[in-house]
Amino acid sequence: MTGGALDMPAITAAARLLEQGRLVALPTETVYGLGADAENPEAVARIYQAKGRPQDHPVIVHVAPGAVLGYWASAIPAEAEQLAAAFWPGPLTMILKRAPNIPDAVSGGQDTVGLRCPSHPVAIALLQAFKGGRGGVAAPSANKFGHVSPTTAQHVIDEFGADGTVDAVLDGGQSAVGIESTIVDLSRLATHGPVLLRPGHISAEAIAAVIDALPAAPDAAAPRASGTLESHYAPHTPVAMQGSHEIAGTLARLKDAGKNVALIHYSHFPDVFAESQLPTSPEGFAHALYAALRAMDTAGADLILVEAPPQDDAWLGVNDRLRRAAHGSTGIVHGLLNHEPFS
Ligand code: TXA
Ligand code: MG
Repeated sequence: MTGGALDMPAITAAARLLEQGRLVALPTETVYGLGADAENPEAVARIYQAKGRPQDHPVIVHVAPGAVLGYWASAIPAEAEQLAAAFWPGPLTMILKRAPNIPDAVSGGQDTVGLRCPSHPVAIALLQAFKGGRGGVAAPSANKFGHVSPTTAQHVIDEFGADGTVDAVLDGGQSAVGIESTIVDLSRLATHGPVLLRPGHISAEAIAAVIDALPAAPDAAAPRASGTLESHYAPHTPVAMQGSHEIAGTLARLKDAGKNVALIHYSHFPDVFAESQLPTSPEGFAHALYAALRAMDTAGADLILVEAPPQDDAWLGVNDRLRRAAHGSTGIVHGLLNHEPFS
């Protein structure tokens, strides 16, 4: 799809597949999701199988605009209503106490449910066609567990095309936001207040402006979120981050050592083996980041080197994803230069 009319026959067919317990990949404004009927435990189990994801990781339930929150959650604080009114449809997921009709498989055995109403027109049309708009589509990002999230239909096909586990892929063009939704936990308001489980396009400050309380950083007892694992969103090639002033020297030394570097950057650097230059705004950088990580991962480089963005709040979501993509690659630059890696 390149904007304009929706492919309603494909969307309707995908809704019927979901109703039959099949898996459908759908575009959202954040990243593509791998969807199944949230009220069908066998269908949800297929998602875990396809992703190779541990069973105890909860999945987000996507609902149509105007969905009745009380059908999915057992307690709806005023803050949830306020945030839904302010940000839905949009890239915000709210964690609430789950209602009894949510299968264990969706919540990873926890007593909560993650709910989100996406704004992508194809996602909305699918949610409206599925079960007459009253269903919920459980959908994690449509990538193998731990890998980079997909932001195009082709990325989804690259992840799952060969194994036949996905029954349909709806094409909605390139995801506008490009990183996963902000997740705010509202399930323990009385004791912990709102908690930011995953930073994203909707900032903690934007949430605070609506509910008059700034979401705190996660505590040890906060609901588990797999996107918050230390190693996540990772390409196969090692990833390192360096400040703008260090990069030119590192590129020269690695070149002398015969190493190939794929560079993701926003400043100008001459003569690189492979490169992907991203916009200098946090929104533009987020939009293009995952496609760049995937492209650089296929360049045949020894290292993906990323020019570290500024450390300010506007870059929180991007820096969070980059830190996780680089996790486990500590000392890689020194290792490639034949020094002892740092540990
Ligand atoms: O933007 C997004 O959120 C995308 C699109 C497809 O909507 N979905 C996505 O799903 O990123 P996934 O599964 O890759 O990440 C969802 C995160 C995970 O970290 C999961 O653990 C957390 O949400 N999550 C879901 N339900 C939860 C719950 N009940 N309690 C705590 N965390 C939950
Ligand atoms: Mg994911």
